[in-house]
Amino acid sequence: MAVLLLFEMKRQPTNSMTRFPATQLFCTAIFVLFAAAGSRVSAAAAQELLRGFTASPDPSGSSFQSLLRDTAGNYSLGFLRVNRAQLALAVIHVPSSEALWVANPTRLPRWSKATRVLFNGSLVISDPQTGVFWSTQTDGDRVWLNTSNLEIQKLDASHSILWQSFYFPSDTLVENQNFTSTMSLVSSNGLYCMRLGSDFIGLYANFNQASGSGQIYWKHRALEAKADVIDGQGPIYLVLSPDGFLGMYQNRSVPVDVQSFSSFQQRGSGARRVRLEPDGNLRGYFWTGSSWVLDYQAIPDSDQCELPSACGSYGLCQQGKGCSCIDNRTDYNSGHCSSSENNSGDFCGQSNNSKYRVVRRNGLELPYKDLMGFEKMGSQAQCEEACENNCTCWGVVYTNSSGFCYTLSYPIQTLVAVGDETKVGYFKVAEGAGKKEMGVGYGVGIGFLCVAVLSFLVLVGFVVYRLRMKKRGHNGYMEEEENGVGVGPYKDLGSASFRSIELCQR
Ligand SMILES: *[C@@H]1O[C@H](CO)[C@@H](O)[C@H](O)[C@H]1NC(C)=O
Ligand SMILES: *[C@@H]1O[C@H](CO)[C@@H](O)[C@H](O)[C@H]1NC(C)=O
Ligand SMILES: *[C@@H]1O[C@H](CO)[C@@H](O)[C@H](O)[C@H]1NC(C)=O
Ligand SMILES: *[C@@H]1O[C@H](CO)[C@@H](O)[C@H](O)[C@H]1NC(C)=O
Ligand SMILES: *[C@@H]1O[C@H](CO)[C@@H](O)[C@H](O)[C@H]1NC(C)=O
Ligand SMILES: *[C@@H]1O[C@H](CO)[C@@H](O)[C@H](O)[C@H]1NC(C)=O
Ligand SMILES: *[C@@H]1O[C@H](CO)[C@@H](O)[C@H](O)[C@H]1NC(C)=O
Repeated sequence: MAVLLLFEMKRQPTNSMTRFPATQLFCTAIFVLFAAAGSRVSAAAAQELLRGFTASPDPSGSSFQSLLRDTAGNYSLGFLRVNRAQLALAVIHVPSSEALWVANPTRLPRWSKATRVLFNGSLVISDPQTGVFWSTQTDGDRVWLNTSNLEIQKLDASHSILWQSFYFPSDTLVENQNFTSTMSLVSSNGLYCMRLGSDFIGLYANFNQASGSGQIYWKHRALEAKADVIDGQGPIYLVLSPDGFLGMYQNRSVPVDVQSFSSFQQRGSGARRVRLEPDGNLRGYFWTGSSWVLDYQAIPDSDQCELPSACGSYGLCQQGKGCSCIDNRTDYNSGHCSSSENNSGDFCGQSNNSKYRVVRRNGLELPYKDLMGFEKMGSQAQCEEACENNCTCWGVVYTNSSGFCYTLSYPIQTLVAVGDETKVGYFKVAEGAGKKEMGVGYGVGIGFLCVAVLSFLVLVGFVVYRLRMKKRGHNGYMEEEENGVGVGPYKDLGSASFRSIELCQR
């Protein structure tokens, strides 16, 4: 298992964000693995929670501890282990363990006996030290799962629904879920978000925590084939149809736009979901009964360089040829081009972090330049000078033929290699004095230490695992896996997941 995970990490270096170094991911994965190996699933979960319900995570508990399930048993609400020692309250698709919804507190509670989920009219997560982490702030009578929609309902004559998770999506939309202009999807690493404009779907990147609304990198306007978007007729909304398309609507049952998936009009055992992924792509999946099949990508494989950070910070993406680095003095081997510590904020401080060196490179452009603002300038020198004199500027890309000067006011991400050598980039590379101390040797040392410690843990874990397997025989962990509480899909719920949810709030 451990080996498999390792391989999986290795296969996806371009997808993992540079902010989460491979070792860190690896550590998380290993710890999650341990958590999973050291426990078992709790007894059959209830189908509703009534007032007075309380539960705490089992300290030796698994990666997922079920509290509630839907009638068919396809979906389950429970404690999901995150970063080894923390938890999220999540709704998962049981056969695949895929998390479809996660409650988003500003901080993550600890996976310990002291943490409680209770229902007293509100569904509440709390612990004695912090108090309330998250609450639905309702006055309902029962909590239940209508398929994957977590609902809090009154049990009076009205049976009204006071709160539902469909109104507070995390990174995923499921079938028949209504995504409105007041909602947003946020990728699990907090870097990307999706929201609706007056007549379009926008994907936004938040590469600079300091600056507000983020940079749009993908935009899909209503094609208005069957109906037009009419001003003043109310906001648009999206619905993922069981028939395999993402429909955009305004006020009427006829869509103003339809994006069909490759499984269009294919039904079956299918559940569908659309997720804003940690790489910034929006992907649609179709459940075949045994696996999720990819059937839609906002940014197709043939345009992977158009992803907002296809090769990470200071990366250079060449369509069909993969990644290299803008600065030819750095190698892309390690999966990224720059140390991520020097890669946030701006150059405005008085201190060391305002120091930088400059890297220039020809033959490149911005991946989503059509969606970026620019200024027309007479020369490359003028364009560069504007950036040099502005401490919030991280770099500029100048197109000689048009005179367009594009300013980057966030840490440099990936640029796209083009044949046109008159397209020139000027980039600042932060050189914080304190940070430079951590040389290659030190880094390698830490790396070795981590690997050594982890290897030991893996060994110990394996022995423990084998012993417990023997003891339990057929009721051991294999059963857990079959119940769909494996560890795979949880690994990208990094610590950053819950960091910058504010990015999408307008
Ligand atoms: C439910 O419990 C929370 C946390 O203990 C508390 O803040 C809230 O007031 C309670 N609500 C009701 C209706 O008792
Ligand atoms: C579950 O939700 C769907 C869609 O919102 C609704 O049509 C259906 O009536 C709900 N089921 C129950 C039992 O309330
Ligand atoms: C979805 O939300 C919009 C805006 O709130 C509303 O007008 C529409 O009726 C909703 N559609 C469904 C199917 O719930
Ligand atoms: C839900 O579970 C039932 C069997 O329990 C299965 O037949 C059905 O296809 C499942 N539906 C989804 C959407 O997974
Ligand atoms: C690196 O780039 C600089 C400036 O673009 C160029 O002068 C130099 O020859 C390049 N070095 C290599 C090894 O490609
Ligand atoms: C840039 O454009 C100017 C005027 O259009 C031209 O004179 C100059 O040669 C161009 N520079 C390069 C490097 O192509
Ligand atoms: C500096 O650049 C930012 C964008 O990065 C821009 O909003 C601001 O107006 C610039 N300031 C000056 C003084 O040019």
